[in-house]
Amino acid sequence: MSNLRIESLRDLQRAHGLQVIALVPGANLFYCTGLQKSLSERPCVMFLPVEDIPHLLLPEFEVADAEQQLTFEHRIYTYSDAQGYSQAFRHLCRDLGLNGKQAGIEFTHMRVFEQREIALAAPECQFVDAEALLAHLRIRKDPTELAALQEAARLNERVLRQVIASIELGQSEKEIAAAYQMAAFQAQSDGLAFDPIVVSGPNGALPHAYPGDRHIQAGEFITLDCGVKYRHYCSDITRTIGVGEISDRLKAIYDVVYEANEAGRSSVRPGVTAESVDRATRQVITKAGYGDYFTHRTGHGLGLEVHEPPYIVEGNATVLEPGMVFTIEPGIYIPGLGGVRIEDNVFVTPTGCESLTTLPRELILL
Ligand code: CO
Ligand code: CO
Repeated sequence: MSNLRIESLRDLQRAHGLQVIALVPGANLFYCTGLQKSLSERPCVMFLPVEDIPHLLLPEFEVADAEQQLTFEHRIYTYSDAQGYSQAFRHLCRDLGLNGKQAGIEFTHMRVFEQREIALAAPECQFVDAEALLAHLRIRKDPTELAALQEAARLNERVLRQVIASIELGQSEKEIAAAYQMAAFQAQSDGLAFDPIVVSGPNGALPHAYPGDRHIQAGEFITLDCGVKYRHYCSDITRTIGVGEISDRLKAIYDVVYEANEAGRSSVRPGVTAESVDRATRQVITKAGYGDYFTHRTGHGLGLEVHEPPYIVEGNATVLEPGMVFTIEPGIYIPGLGGVRIEDNVFVTPTGCESLTTLPRELILL
């Protein structure tokens, strides 16, 4: 599989004049080569030349692990802690003849020190952002990827159901977040896709707040935005639930977000643009008078990363195609009062769209 993906990448590199692409640990490296590594202060960079076998730079003591993972012919350049990595970069870049060539790198992933080492070893090298090219490969999911995403969503829903059923008055946001994490591991997921967001009452107006020591009180909403991974693929689901008697004002906000989520999902089909899906949700919220309180994009792609293309946002004219997977997550956030977000994971089918998420979207009251 990895070989085929490297071949597809090479075709794109040729078309874009990128003689080499250099990848650091992360989703692109894993997708293209099957190599699973974490970013650390010890650099690991995979150079993928069009006309030669892949060249990998990594710490000496990680070679055995990498060799086990790599299924294609490659060349390795190592360094020890005592030696440092500059010489390995110099040797690799010299052997590749990188000086004077264009190197594609990941502008949002490669760090300054890695880029500087390459630039020192190949001073005439021109750096080009290769993210769009890599996204092009990853944006349509194949059946194996779809199955993993489906299972990630299913596990996430099972865990969310369990956690929502266990919530009690007086519990803190942190306690609920901890319960989610525990249940996520017990459910045989492959870990969290991101730190769970559990916010209550006025904190609900902060879309990405960390769970705090605030205790759950009657008459408030709790927003749970959580995700697990399954075979490297992410899920990302949000439900907002009510505790006790909920005011008509909060209920009215919920109904608008519910309707916006529905409008977003109904608008998805092949041939429409990502921004048209954003418009579909935003129109509902704006019409209800809450346009200024929907402060983020409608959604984001979902795959090896929890945020990846296609971004469902105004200005993104990407045409939706079967196999694309993304979130629909409209929200309304009223400072001082609270917020509502309902987030589903959907995929584009040949005729429309299907939701990977099946949790009820109607307001659940505890
Ligand atoms: Co989310
Ligand atoms: Co999301």
